[in-house]
Amino acid sequence: MVAFSALSGLSALPLLFSLAQCVYGVSLDVSTEGGNSSSPILYGFMFEDINHSGDGGIYAQLLRNNGLQGSQPDLTAWAAVGDATLAVDTQNPLTEAIPHSLRLDVKQGVSGAVGFSNEGYWGIPVDGSEFLNTFWIKGDFSGDITVRLVGSNTGIEYGSTKITQSSHSGNFTKVSATIPTKKAPDGAVLYQLTVDGAAVRGSLNFGLLELFPQTFKSRPNGLKPQLAQPLDAVKGSFLRFPGGNNLEGASESLRWKWNQTIGPLEDRPGRQGDWTYYNTDGLGLDEYLYWCEDMGLAPVLGVWAGFALQSGGNTPITGDALKPYIDDVLNELEYIRGDSSTKYGALRASYGRKDPWTLTMVEIGNEDMLGGGCASYAERFTAFYNAIHATYPDITFIASTAQSNCLPSKLPAGTWVDFHNYNSANNLVSQFNQFDNLDRAVPYFIGEYSCQQNNAWPFMQGSVAEAVYMIGIERNSDLVKMAAYAPLLQLVNATQWRPNLLAFTQNPDVVIETTSYHVQHMFSVNRGDTIRQVTSDSAFGPVYWVASSAGNTYYVKLANYGATPQDITVSIAAKTSGKLTVLADHDPNAYNSDTQTLVTPSEVDVTATNGKFTFTLPAWAVGVLAAT
Ligand SMILES: *[C@@H]1O[C@H](CO)[C@@H](O)[C@H](O)[C@H]1NC(C)=O
Ligand SMILES: *[C@@H]1O[C@H](CO)[C@@H](O)[C@H](O)[C@H]1NC(C)=O
Ligand SMILES: *[C@@H]1O[C@H](CO)[C@@H](O)[C@H](O)[C@H]1NC(C)=O
Ligand SMILES: *[C@@H]1O[C@H](CO)[C@@H](O)[C@H](O)[C@H]1NC(C)=O
Ligand SMILES: *[C@@H]1O[C@H](CO)[C@@H](O)[C@H](O)[C@H]1NC(C)=O
Repeated sequence: MVAFSALSGLSALPLLFSLAQCVYGVSLDVSTEGGNSSSPILYGFMFEDINHSGDGGIYAQLLRNNGLQGSQPDLTAWAAVGDATLAVDTQNPLTEAIPHSLRLDVKQGVSGAVGFSNEGYWGIPVDGSEFLNTFWIKGDFSGDITVRLVGSNTGIEYGSTKITQSSHSGNFTKVSATIPTKKAPDGAVLYQLTVDGAAVRGSLNFGLLELFPQTFKSRPNGLKPQLAQPLDAVKGSFLRFPGGNNLEGASESLRWKWNQTIGPLEDRPGRQGDWTYYNTDGLGLDEYLYWCEDMGLAPVLGVWAGFALQSGGNTPITGDALKPYIDDVLNELEYIRGDSSTKYGALRASYGRKDPWTLTMVEIGNEDMLGGGCASYAERFTAFYNAIHATYPDITFIASTAQSNCLPSKLPAGTWVDFHNYNSANNLVSQFNQFDNLDRAVPYFIGEYSCQQNNAWPFMQGSVAEAVYMIGIERNSDLVKMAAYAPLLQLVNATQWRPNLLAFTQNPDVVIETTSYHVQHMFSVNRGDTIRQVTSDSAFGPVYWVASSAGNTYYVKLANYGATPQDITVSIAAKTSGKLTVLADHDPNAYNSDTQTLVTPSEVDVTATNGKFTFTLPAWAVGVLAAT
C-alpha cells in the first residue's frame, strides 16, 4: 500500500539511541487508581470533497466528467479515438438529472476501431482487481464494443473486454461488463471504448459511464480500497460529513442537497462544489452511511443551516424563511432513521437499505462564526434545534462554532460546540493546556485541526506539535468528546491546500502516509477508556505525556517537541512488558511526500526493570508505550 516504503523504520530507533549523549531525564509515575473516563469516540475523521478527496479520491468511480454534468459541460477528460469526433449532446439527455450525453460521430465509409478515451482523474489506478464498467448507449447499433485499459504512454494493455451489444435510436440501453485487469505500474492509464466504425450509422450516444475497481468490502458504488484501507487501519470512531464549506455551497441554491445525492446515479444531478470542481454526488448520503458502517464509525451529519458561504460575506436566512430548510432536514432525518412505514424511510428502503441507519449526532451548519453568519446563528441554531429535538430527543446537537458571541446565551443541555484550529506548530504547542481549566458544562468537538504552516506537507515538527495538542485533548477527554484532523485526503495532482492527512496519486500503489497520519494512527489505535494520573518532577515541555488504560493495558503517549533526546522512565505498578512505538526524525522539517518517505514509525518490545520502563525518546518524536 505504501509505495515509498524503502526505508525500514526499525533501524531508526537504535541509531537515535546512540545519538543520545546529552540527555535529560523525565520520570513518570502512572497511577493505577482512580482517573477520569475518556471519551470512547475521541478520534475520528472529518470529510468533505476537497482537493479531489471524494471524486477522484476515496469514491471508487474512476472516470472523470463521466456524466457530462453541470450546466455547461465540456469534453474535459474525453478524447476521440480513431477517425471519429466527439461532442456534448444536449438533444439526447440520459435523464432529467443527467441532461447531456456524449455523442460519437462517425463519417460514412469509416471502418476500424473508433470511439473515445477517458483519462480519469489525472490517471486511472488499475490495481489488478476485477473492474466493473457500466454505461448507457443509444443509437442504431449492433456489434462488438471493446473496452480497454491501456497505458497512455506505452499502449500496454492492463485490461480489456469485448461486449456484443445492440442498441436503438429511440432510447438508452444500459450496458454492464466486468473487466479482468492486471496491475499497472503507475497511474498513466486511459479508459478506451471503441466499436467498428462500419457498424455505426451516423452517430451513437453514450450516457453516464462508470468504472469501478473492486471496492472496499465489495460495496456497490463504494470506496477505493487504496484509500479506505489506510483510513480503516486508524480505527477511528466517527465521520463528520459532508462538510465543511462543501456543505454550505457558494449560494443557497448551490448548497449540498441530500435528496439529490440518493438513489440511482442517473438520477443524481451533482452540484458545483465549494472547492472549484463539480461534484458528481456519486458519493452521496447513503454512501457516506455505508462508509461509516463498513469502518465502524459513528456518523456526524452536518446539515445546512440557512447560511451559504460567499466571499465577501452573505446574508443568512432567518425567521419564517428558515422553515422549508428545517423541514428539509426533518425529511433527511426521516430518510436516515425512519422505518419503512414512513415516507422517506420507504424511499430509503426502495433504494436497497431496509434497516434505518444509526445516527445520533447532528451538527447545525458549518463555521457559522465566519462571513456574516455569527449574528444570526443563535436564532438559526435554536430553530433547527427545537424542531429536530422535538422529534429526535436522543440526538446530540453540535453547534458549528465555540464562539460564545455567536451562540444562544444558554445552549440547550447536552449541546456540544465545534472548535476548529488550524495553527502553526508553536501555537499548537502553546495551546497544550487550552482545555485544562475550561468550564466542563459544554462539551467540545474539535471538528477540524492540523498544524498548518507555509502550505507545507505535514512535517515532523508540525506532527509532534499535533501530538502535543492531542495529549492536551486526551488529558481533557471528559470535556473534549471528539477531534478530527483536517483535511483528510489529497490528490497530489490537483491540490492547492496543504496539509492533508493522506495523499495519493492514481498509481495503485501510492498512498502517502504523512507524518501526521502516523500520529493519528498511533494515538487512535492505542486508546484507553480511563485517563490516569501521572506524577512527575518534571514540568511539561519539551516532553509532554498522558496516560490511560483499558482493562489491563496501560498506554503512555509521549511527545518530545525539541531537538534534544530525552531519557524517559515510566513506572506503572505490576507492569513488566510492553511495546514502544516511536515516530521520530532529528530533522524537524523531515516529511513524507510523493517523492520521498523519510519517516515511518518503529516498534520495539520493552521490558520493565524493577518496575520501571526506561528508554530514550529521540529528538522531535512521538511515542506510545503500551504496557501489559
Ligand atoms: C484544494 O483545496 C483548497 C482549499 O482547501 C482550495 O483552495 C483548492 O481550490 C482545492 N483544489 C482543488 C483542485 O480543488
Ligand atoms: C501526478 O503526480 C504524480 C506524483 O507527483 C506524478 O508522478 C504523475 O505523473 C502525475 N500525473 C499527472 C497526470 O500529472
Ligand atoms: C427501447 O426501444 C426498443 C426498440 O424501439 C424497444 O424494444 C425497447 O423495449 C425499448 N426499451 C425501453 C427500456 O424502453
Ligand atoms: C428535494 O427536496 C426539496 C426541498 O425539500 C424539494 O423541493 C425537491 O423537490 C426535492 N427533490 C427531489 C429530487 O426529491
Ligand atoms: C480529572 O478531571 C478533573 C477535572 O477536570 C481534573 O482536575 C483531574 O486532573 C483529572 N484527572 C485526571 C487523572 O486526568
